[in-house]
Amino acid sequence: MSYYELCNTVAQAVEKTVLPLIGKTEAKTGMGMGADGTETERIDKIAEDAALSVLESDGRSMRLVSEELGEKIIGSKPEFTVILDPVDGTFNAVNNIPFFCVPVAIGDSDLSDTRYGYVKNLVNGDVYTAEYGHGAFLNNNMIHVSSRSYFPEMSFLSYSHHPYAVPANNHRVRRVRIFGSAALELCYIASGIFDAFIDMREMLRVTDIAAGKLIVEEAGGMVTDREGAQLETPLDVKQRLNLVASNGLSHNKLLELV
Ligand code: IPD
Ligand code: CA
Repeated sequence: MSYYELCNTVAQAVEKTVLPLIGKTEAKTGMGMGADGTETERIDKIAEDAALSVLESDGRSMRLVSEELGEKIIGSKPEFTVILDPVDGTFNAVNNIPFFCVPVAIGDSDLSDTRYGYVKNLVNGDVYTAEYGHGAFLNNNMIHVSSRSYFPEMSFLSYSHHPYAVPANNHRVRRVRIFGSAALELCYIASGIFDAFIDMREMLRVTDIAAGKLIVEEAGGMVTDREGAQLETPLDVKQRLNLVASNGLSHNKLLELV
């Protein structure tokens, strides 16, 4: 099985179990604390179990890093690490807000060595993929980041805990949106719809961003921490990150903002 086939089979299994639960009360039943330190909803657990059974039947030995279970070694000599968020955008999914996805990445030891990224939009079926050194794709068509660098023309995705915040230096941009699924939002940077993504809340986990990060980079964009450094975060669901992603052209200017 290629990486694409493995990730796609995982996503199909998740999709099959998750879609019937969207917006249903039982999707929200609390299942206790996940390994990442946040509450696991029933929908997350069911999705993770479906993904796990696909990975266990693959036959290869691998390490799984997943939001609810934390880490699991399958077989005796892992060939690679699967970084999975069974449902990214759980709040949206359980409340019938149509914006959630399943991101799967294949890597080794930290965020800098991801070799394959896959994100499936579970609402419309769009699939974003990237293999290290081979570009990024939406439904098999190559995608590229935008070429905008003039703030008044740029579209931002920007997370904040503050109900209203005036950006530093009073910069104005064309539009600011936030949809609630970081993995899918990073794909919007990769496909050039949005120009920049900023999240300084120190809340993102490696499972939220491993796949999207590679997809942005392979589409020609940049993903760094607030200092502009490469993300080399270990593949541990307890780690928390800040993130600046962009088309690259405006990256230094963005770093001055955060
Ligand atoms: C959430 C989404 C959201 C981000 C949150 C994450 P989850 O993931 O990625 O975009 O802002 O910090 O927790 O909980 O739905 O898997
Ligand atoms: Ca999740």
